[in-house]
Amino acid sequence: MRPKSKPDELRSFRWFGGDSMAGFMHRSRMKQLGYRQDDFVGKPLIAIINTWSEINPCHAHLRERAEAVKRGVWQAGGFPVEIPALSIAETYMKPSPMMYRNLLAMETEELLRSQPVDGAVLMGGCDKTTPALLMGAISVNLPTIFLPAGPMLRGNWEGEQLGSGTDFRKYWIERCAGAITEQQWNDMEAGIARSPGFCMTMGTASTMTALAEALGLTLPGASSIPAPDSNHARMSMNCGQRIVEMVWEDLLPRDILTRRAFENAIAVDMAIGGSTNAIIHLVAIAGRCGLPLELPLFDAISHRVPVLANIRPSGAYLMEDFFYAGGLPALMSEMKDLLHLDCPTVNGRTIGENLVGAKIINPDVIRPRANPLTPTGGTAILYGNLAPDGAVIKTSAATPRLLKHTGPAVVFKNYKDMEARIDGPDLNVTEDSVLVLQNAGPLGGPGMPEWGMLPIPQKLLLKGVRDIVRISDARMSGTAYGTCVLHVSPESFIGGPLSLVQDGDLISLDADSRLLDLLVSESELSARRAKWTKPAAPFGRGYGALYATRVTQAHLGCDFDFLEPNSEVNAGEPSTPRPTVASPEPEIH
Ligand code: FES
Repeated sequence: MRPKSKPDELRSFRWFGGDSMAGFMHRSRMKQLGYRQDDFVGKPLIAIINTWSEINPCHAHLRERAEAVKRGVWQAGGFPVEIPALSIAETYMKPSPMMYRNLLAMETEELLRSQPVDGAVLMGGCDKTTPALLMGAISVNLPTIFLPAGPMLRGNWEGEQLGSGTDFRKYWIERCAGAITEQQWNDMEAGIARSPGFCMTMGTASTMTALAEALGLTLPGASSIPAPDSNHARMSMNCGQRIVEMVWEDLLPRDILTRRAFENAIAVDMAIGGSTNAIIHLVAIAGRCGLPLELPLFDAISHRVPVLANIRPSGAYLMEDFFYAGGLPALMSEMKDLLHLDCPTVNGRTIGENLVGAKIINPDVIRPRANPLTPTGGTAILYGNLAPDGAVIKTSAATPRLLKHTGPAVVFKNYKDMEARIDGPDLNVTEDSVLVLQNAGPLGGPGMPEWGMLPIPQKLLLKGVRDIVRISDARMSGTAYGTCVLHVSPESFIGGPLSLVQDGDLISLDADSRLLDLLVSESELSARRAKWTKPAAPFGRGYGALYATRVTQAHLGCDFDFLEPNSEVNAGEPSTPRPTVASPEPEIH
């Protein structure tokens, strides 16, 4: 691509230029909106894709921020248009917001492809929103900046700082054990989430926005700024200014998103002790670029990258502290030797150039290399006869002694079965047991709900047990913790080995050796496989039916097969780049 030099080379000019019926129609409707012709003809039209919604508290401030973006666009000589898109509110969308990631990705792609857009600012941050917006925009491949919604302020309860997600889980266990009063619980409910912005632990939202920055798709430092901070409004305005320049420079997402950029993102994911969900999302985002990311790559990078961010659930602090400690640029500057510093970013400079001057302010929050939180990355990829296509464990949030453990399975057929029996006094469970949840994967959940941190049975809680090994084909919230093996692939709903586990079977977990095995003979497993029957499909119509027929397995990113750059889904050698075909340009009539 070559830089654009003339207004009539703009994509939007195909709609607004020319002495034709189509040109007349398109211009007249802009005038209907109250704009003069010289406001929009020959000016970069910037779509501000806004995932604001009144039911999404994480994005409550995004309408205000869109105004700041518009200011920047106008100042730089562009024409801003705010376009609403699906708001995936993590807390509310059921059966799982993960089901709707691909829907927002499709919406983003079509909003940008079908309309007179020259460049895009993507606004979001609540868990699935970041990958969804990026997947859609990458598929269109127009100049794009990601604007992270920013983390909320620290929670507060009885003078204690609370982390959303992480601490309600921690205290729910105490509540179940009778250690928290109803009044204390109510006070906590009112204090744990007290400002706009996404979860301020190192959950999926903080992880994915940090990874968007590591990929080079945000302005430097943007992902760490708390949502209510006035720096956030200024960053928003800067996004508006910069995207106009990017249109003239024709700087495209796929110029930035090389395999080396993804290796940077994986390294940063490990250094921040990022959410396990990031693995699925990065695989899907890279897939839209035609770059297969194999799970062993995550493991290889995890081996050489220490955890430096002392943020819950792996560490002690919260995202507000991370910002004050220097934010992501400070963390990345501490691991320069582990990054490809020559990767380009949206501001036109390289990652390395953007890190000049970054420094750690508080070395307990962002640890120096000499004093990491853990010496290697926080995530391990497991293989074995229970997970032939892989499984994931967040070792940094697990109990170290349980990372090598063999114990008898206690099997739940699905979430309802688990809910009905987990706290029963007759559940045959001990602290050596391994809890197994089946039918919670991409199709079985459906949507891989974040059920992977199975509750500790009450009879164990009352004995003081706070962690045991848990295994499922579900995901786990990035704010969650415990010795939880997740994303077992292939999933049990399609007959993966997890579906064959029965009560009392011995399961062996060895995180150091990256092994997850079901200690049952192959002949016995064959006999069980012959008797296995597939559960009924959860959806007969609508988006759910589309999802159920086209979603891929966890190790492949759970994208829809028809949205990847070619339709030969997952074929060929993993290291062979697939052809990259952007969505076709529409004809203008
Ligand atoms: Fe939106 Fe946690 S609920 S990020």
